[in-house]
Amino acid sequence: MSEKIYDVPAEWASRAFVDDAKYRQMYERSVTDPTGFWAEHAKRVDWIKAPTKIDNWSFAPGNVSIKWFEDGVLNAAYNCIDRHLDKRGDQVAIIWEGDDPSQSRSITYRELHDEVCKFANILRNRNVGKGDRVTIYLPMIPEAAFAMLACARIGAIHSVVFAGFSPDSLAGRINDCNSKIVITADEGLRGGRKVPLKANVDAALKKCEGVDWVMVVKRTGAAVEMDDVRDFWYHEAAEVVTTECPVEHMHAEDPLFILYTSGSTGQPKGVLHTTGGYLVFASMTHQYVFDYHDGDIYWCTADVGWVTGHSYILYGPLANGATTLMFEGVPNYPTNSRFWEVIDKHKVNIFYTAPTAIRALMQAGDEPVKKTSRKSLRLLGSVGEPINPEAWEWYHRVVGEDRCPIVDTWWQTETGGILITPLPGATKLKPGSATRPFFGVVPEILDPEGNVLEGECTGNLCLARSWPGQMRTVYGDHARFEQTYFSAYKGKYFTGDGCRRDTDGFYWITGRVDDVINVSGHRMGTAEVESSLVAHPKVSEAAVVGYPHDIKGQGIYAYVTLMAGEEPTEELRKELVAWVRKDIGPIASPDLIQFAPGLPKTRSGKIMRRILRKIAEDEPSSLGDTSTLADPAVVDDLVEHRQNKH
Ligand code: WT7
Repeated sequence: MSEKIYDVPAEWASRAFVDDAKYRQMYERSVTDPTGFWAEHAKRVDWIKAPTKIDNWSFAPGNVSIKWFEDGVLNAAYNCIDRHLDKRGDQVAIIWEGDDPSQSRSITYRELHDEVCKFANILRNRNVGKGDRVTIYLPMIPEAAFAMLACARIGAIHSVVFAGFSPDSLAGRINDCNSKIVITADEGLRGGRKVPLKANVDAALKKCEGVDWVMVVKRTGAAVEMDDVRDFWYHEAAEVVTTECPVEHMHAEDPLFILYTSGSTGQPKGVLHTTGGYLVFASMTHQYVFDYHDGDIYWCTADVGWVTGHSYILYGPLANGATTLMFEGVPNYPTNSRFWEVIDKHKVNIFYTAPTAIRALMQAGDEPVKKTSRKSLRLLGSVGEPINPEAWEWYHRVVGEDRCPIVDTWWQTETGGILITPLPGATKLKPGSATRPFFGVVPEILDPEGNVLEGECTGNLCLARSWPGQMRTVYGDHARFEQTYFSAYKGKYFTGDGCRRDTDGFYWITGRVDDVINVSGHRMGTAEVESSLVAHPKVSEAAVVGYPHDIKGQGIYAYVTLMAGEEPTEELRKELVAWVRKDIGPIASPDLIQFAPGLPKTRSGKIMRRILRKIAEDEPSSLGDTSTLADPAVVDDLVEHRQNKH
């Protein structure tokens, strides 16, 4: 690992909200007097009734319960829109940049207010109200923001499903939370390619009983089938509603949204976030981590289908009265200069993207970057997976011209907001390290026996205390919440990540230590891909592991045992890739499939994944002990026919 250190530039230390001394003082207060600290910082949002009870949580086995600001009353949409109207009604809230570079749109806070109120009234007219679940399956268009904020305004719980997921994946998520309405578009548009969203919804709804309404936004104008009773057009419904829509009064612990994420076992789980703590934490981290000042133009390249889009395109920035850019397209369309051209076009100051995008653009060389100006840029950010020092250095040197600090932000869908990160005016940078904890965050590194390690060490990353943005439960399954996050280490939240702490107390996330893989910053459960593969009629067994991939970070490596009599052909390999793509979505496509006559199992029948990981990593000489296998000979065949041989 690189030990290069980048000191805080002097002008950053003086202009930023927080310098090193202030970080240390605020951090100290946040952990010695969390109640006082969070009581003070809760004031950053407007409350209808201010909270008097600040923190009330327990990580105790069998009794996990998390509440923040519990007697407070507020509305998230009011905080993201209405409270800004007096001061910045005419300021741009959302800059939308289309997939096609000739399309963009600016939406002021006042326009956002009117659009969200209309949207909310359309929902209210269809009897959607407080506590109802609304599934949103939209591309990156302004209506996705209107839809989410409209739900927040009327107290409905949104569940955004990434528009790259298949009809089956969508159906599972609609059914799990019993949505009564689905909001979609005729088609999506990404990288010049069309995605048949309405047709996907139609296919999904064949498996969903409870959906009364489908609202369809016109994006491309493609002809789509409309059910006379169930389906209606957004643009038509919007003509007959007003721009007045009183906000619902929400308790701090009323749910704001559900977001499905993959785990090491079973189906994706509905991560539930509530209103008060989430909003305080998303807005506070957005301000401090990105050092957001009035007038800055801020761009996070994520999709609203992921938590990064929720916290750092929408809720955090808008709660702060920011100008936030929403991008429909992809980094390499029409050319590899697209990101940098968008930065120049809209004079972006703060840019937040993922290592996988940085690596892909790095491969295209410096030229597409250097032909753009980027002089508006002041700060760069990274999120989604560990960033390798080479990519970090390139991002810093070529994209940021050695003048922009990089904030490498570690967090998870479950954490609601950033937990480990540099603050640009306070923290020296080490390429590849997420550096230090944010205020109120107490990381601990534990060995497998549960001992808390001190000083420089490597182990499993836990959090010893709650923070306001923490998820509250798995929707409809609190036992699974406790089991997943609080059973490995008693009294602590286990993140699923491995981590090293260095002599400076800096944290280096080493990646997942469970059966979750991180493909281009997207989380995939190996179990999900396996169950998709074994559902194919020619497959008898499957085991899936991750392996290092130059651009994606991790690729998906599948070992497949066929039914007796089936031939392992190239055609079948392609068929299986297409099968998983269709079943789950393109992000789950296996990169490599190895046909395996047998899988390495213990005598009790447990697949030894450790061995499969080593073979997939092309490290057959470090398989370790194979003597406990029922049939050690299967390993020789797997090694010989490995797909990732260098
Ligand atoms: C997992 C969470 C949080 C938004 C995007 C992903 C990995 C995320 C970093 C980082 C090293 C990172 C972890 C984590 N991860 N950011 N800066 N450095 N690893 O959210 O889909 O919930 O995935 O992504 O492994 O557990 P997610």
